[in-house]
Amino acid sequence: MLETELTHILKIRYPIFQAPMAGGPTTPELVAAVSNAGGLGNLGAGYLTPEQLRSTIQKIKELTDQPFGVNLFVPEQPIESEEAIDQMSAYLNKYRIELGIATNPLLPKFSESFEEQVQVLLEEKVAVFSFTFGIPPHEVIQAMKERGTVVIGTATTVEEAKYLEAAGVDAVVAQGSEAGGHRGTFLNNISDNQIGTMALVPQIVDHVSIPVIASGGIMDGRGLVASLFLGASAVQMGTAFLACPESGAHATYKQKILSSNEDTTEITRAYSGKAARGIRTAFMNDLHQYPGTIPAYPIQNAMTRDIRQAAAKSNNPEYMSLWAGQGLRLASDHSAAAIVKQTIDQAYVLVNLITKSPYRMKEND
Ligand SMILES: Cc1cc2nc3c(=O)[nH]c(=O)nc-3n(C[C@H](O)[C@H](O)[C@H](O)COP(=O)(O)O)c2cc1C
Repeated sequence: MLETELTHILKIRYPIFQAPMAGGPTTPELVAAVSNAGGLGNLGAGYLTPEQLRSTIQKIKELTDQPFGVNLFVPEQPIESEEAIDQMSAYLNKYRIELGIATNPLLPKFSESFEEQVQVLLEEKVAVFSFTFGIPPHEVIQAMKERGTVVIGTATTVEEAKYLEAAGVDAVVAQGSEAGGHRGTFLNNISDNQIGTMALVPQIVDHVSIPVIASGGIMDGRGLVASLFLGASAVQMGTAFLACPESGAHATYKQKILSSNEDTTEITRAYSGKAARGIRTAFMNDLHQYPGTIPAYPIQNAMTRDIRQAAAKSNNPEYMSLWAGQGLRLASDHSAAAIVKQTIDQAYVLVNLITKSPYRMKEND
């Protein structure tokens, strides 16, 4: 039962993806450890320059000969008034003063060149290319497929999954609202579609014919087996790997992951201008009272970067973005390989229990 359409397509042993997590957690060591353990490691490369992207891929290739994936952000063209940007910049100065960094900084670059990032992936011939926040141009999807790269999109509704299938992706991540990090929502400009994994996965499974990867709140073998029974072909786990030793998450962030509860996260636009789930902080609480308009992603993301970085330097979690899903109490600091093994061992026990259960529905029921 743990062999699925996707384990065959990707030539991996177990249907476990370690989620791509841009911003530092998905180090080459983490990606390689998960792939070496039989899952699919994924690099969150959305914020990497083309040069950083190439060298990181090459480092992963030194650490594993198994398949791994690379994830990018589909670019967005935000329209924002100068007034909203100026107002936010002035508002954020109180944090800069408190953290002892320069006030009124010049507006930094919003995002890296998607075209150049794609070019690196084509040249490096990665096994899997996944993306979120939209659908890349048709030529990009085609070029990847021509190189033998498996292409995976992200959906938060059935409609988005259908659009992705029509665009030619090979598989789709069904991202439930429990998920940590940014919501992949891209249709209708609604950034707060909040459909839970349990409801979302079987509905997407019923409406597309490509394999589905369940994501959001899946932390162990129970979540894996449940997802497979819902019709998923694999799971994508993020928060479960955030506090492991190979993760590049900041030490203070790891401590927060290990000490927080299921009810401490919230979906917010405070840090980046795009809906994302993270552990509640003073910064979030304050920005939720902000009287003006929070600039759209990726403008707000670029505008808060200096604050987040200074907060990380001074070990102040209250002004850092602590992306995390609702499965927090199940997180551990075990090694990445141990997390994969424990998930698989638990899944086998459960599958055996279920298939031997006297309460199992009879075939003709
Ligand atoms: C810290 C963090 C960063 C993330 N960054 C990305 C990303 O760069 N690309 C992406 O497609 N998903 C990203 N996600 C979302 C994950 O792919 C996945 O949907 C989520 O982790 C699943 O929920 P879970 O954290 O409860 O396992 C991120 C999640 C977290 C927690």
